[in-house]
Amino acid sequence: MSAEQRHKPDVLKQYESHGIVVHWEPKLCIHVSNCVRALPHVFKPDTRPWINIEADSADEVATAIEMCPTGALSYVRTDGAPQETPASPTQVQPRPNGPLFVRGAVEMIDAEGNVTRKATRVALCRCGQSSNKPYCDLSHRAAGFRS
Ligand code: SF4
Ligand code: FES
Repeated sequence: MSAEQRHKPDVLKQYESHGIVVHWEPKLCIHVSNCVRALPHVFKPDTRPWINIEADSADEVATAIEMCPTGALSYVRTDGAPQETPASPTQVQPRPNGPLFVRGAVEMIDAEGNVTRKATRVALCRCGQSSNKPYCDLSHRAAGFRS
């Protein structure tokens, strides 16, 4: 998927390095920290900027980003390496007492039929309490949602 093909209105942070451009969308991040566990020397929540993609290779950074279940992190390879391949078939995983993790070639469509987002990973609210519907924003915890 090229940068032009992506439709992501809430990209707020962009980081560029050797061979890779990384996007981080804070509104989608629910701090499950897969990225931090995968590459703690790249993703450092206690420092600013919190992402230092210079600290590892584009391949390692891309692999870690693909572990982000919400799509808050995504990337575009600029060195000719393959872009992220969407899971096929699409996978929907209900998380215990939490959101639906979806992996695949996802198009989010609003009530008017407009595509609002194209993604390979999203976390969808199933507690009904999110302030960022249809995406999870961790409100299920405060709401005490039980699945
Ligand atoms: S893996 Fe994704 S959702 Fe989790 S902390 Fe990292 S960016 Fe946020
Ligand atoms: S499931 Fe997370 S906010 Fe609803």
